[in-house]
Amino acid sequence: MSRSTKLFETYKLGPITLANRLVMAPLTRNRAVPGTFVPGPLAADYYAQRASAGLLITEASQVSQQGQGYQDTPGIYSKEQVAGWRKVTDKVHERGGKIFIQLWHVGRISHVDLQANGAAPVAPSAIRAKGKTFVNGGFADVSEPRALELSEIPGIIDDFKRATKNALDAGFDGVEIHGANGYLLEQFAKDGANKRTDAYGGSIENRAKLMLEVSKAVVAEAGAGRTGIRISPVTPANDVSDSNPQALYDHIVDGLSALKLVYLHVVEGATGGPRDIAPFDYASLRNRFSGAYVANNGYDFELASKVLEANAADLIAFGKPFISNPDLVERLKQGAALNDWDKNTFYGGGAKGYTDYLTLAAEPAE
Ligand SMILES: Cc1cc2nc3c(=O)[nH]c(=O)nc-3n(C[C@H](O)[C@H](O)[C@H](O)COP(=O)(O)O)c2cc1C
Repeated sequence: MSRSTKLFETYKLGPITLANRLVMAPLTRNRAVPGTFVPGPLAADYYAQRASAGLLITEASQVSQQGQGYQDTPGIYSKEQVAGWRKVTDKVHERGGKIFIQLWHVGRISHVDLQANGAAPVAPSAIRAKGKTFVNGGFADVSEPRALELSEIPGIIDDFKRATKNALDAGFDGVEIHGANGYLLEQFAKDGANKRTDAYGGSIENRAKLMLEVSKAVVAEAGAGRTGIRISPVTPANDVSDSNPQALYDHIVDGLSALKLVYLHVVEGATGGPRDIAPFDYASLRNRFSGAYVANNGYDFELASKVLEANAADLIAFGKPFISNPDLVERLKQGAALNDWDKNTFYGGGAKGYTDYLTLAAEPAE
């Protein structure tokens, strides 16, 4: 018996058609090849196993070495990385799947051991986040960052632009700008992390500028129909906060809508935590935005179906359920039980907890 809800209907996302409304959320797995940060040998299998999702979004991938904040996360700035990603996109496309890559600059959530010549990570302001990163095989406090010079900002925008070109060369259907979870673009946007007094600090307009300029540059490279963005207006992830998130994000989304991005991916509430951590009117973002609204955070079949039926979202992104259920779409269709995920194998390692989760037929996914 197959359950029928809007979740399983097709959706036209810009130039591509998604087979259903389920999106695999971006999930960092720290299994890239150490040193080159090429996607690891099992990455193509891992994503292909999950290709029945309407859309896959890859784990966050750094746009430059400076943009890396954790051990063994993949990049999208070198030729070898592009070739590694090509294997992933080819295999996903062979299975009829669609895949975007998430473009990442971590800003201050990094460690000197990941930076060229042990340099300090960069940030809007020289304020160290209270938080840890995973480096050298264990958790360590993030390093003290330095504030970016005004003259360095065009270089950051160029890094996103080059990464976008690389992503298209690697065969991706599009790119998702990582504007969420306390990384560089959100550090600039939120006043808890941005104390600048130049054109990128102070007013909401100034703080939103980098996210919008990066979006404009990425759209110029990929086209608006292949550009999405992820935001997390009230998340406390990575020690960010803002004194007026509603006004900030209403402004940001007006800007994104004018650029005609194909989707707005919103982490509602605290990433991986309570959805109701702070009052926020997500409908305001949906109503302002011209493209698709992708909702994420703590969704299950019931909530996803309800929200789609109420037309409060167009697509629903599932994170952890996709880690442990390669055939999540089929399981939800049938109302079958889901595999539990194993937190111990989220970050780093090999096939265990990565490509060995069983399908409904109790067989390893192909
Ligand atoms: C192991 C793990 C890795 C994650 N990596 C990323 C990432 O690379 N980029 C991102 O935007 N969010 C990342 N997230 C957040 C998820 O995309 C998602 O927002 C979160 O898990 C909540 O959705 P869920 O309740 O469906 O799991 C990660 C979460 C987990 C558990």
